[in-house]
Amino acid sequence: MCREEDLRDGAVRTARLGLDADGLPVLALLLRDESGDIVAYRNLCRHLPVPLDGGTGELLSEDGAHLICGTHGATYRLHDGYCVDGPCEGMTLQPLYVREDRGDLYVSDAPDSR
Ligand code: FES
Repeated sequence: MCREEDLRDGAVRTARLGLDADGLPVLALLLRDESGDIVAYRNLCRHLPVPLDGGTGELLSEDGAHLICGTHGATYRLHDGYCVDGPCEGMTLQPLYVREDRGDLYVSDAPDSR
C-alpha cells in the first residue's frame, strides 16, 4: 500500500482489496495509531454495511484521534478500532493483516501464509 516511512501520523492510506463473499468491496484502511504502531481495518461500519467515509475520503476526526463515520459521527479508537460513541458503540472494526517486506507495507484480509 505504501512505504513504511511514508505512513505518517494523521494520514490514512486506502486500497481496494477485492470483493468479499457477499460481493461487497473490501476497502482497506492503513494508518498509525496513537502510539505510532501500524494498524489496518476494513473500511466498513459494523452496524450498517457502508464505508465510514461514504466515499468522501474523510476518515479521521478533526484532532486525528479517532476514525469517524462521516454519516453518523461514530468514533473509533485508532489502536483497536473499537467504537466508543455512536450507533455502533461497543462494536469493533474488522482488523486486517499488515505485512512489512523491506519497508513496503502490504495489507490483506487473511493472514499471510508465507
Ligand atoms: S454506518 Fe455505522 S456509525 Fe455510521
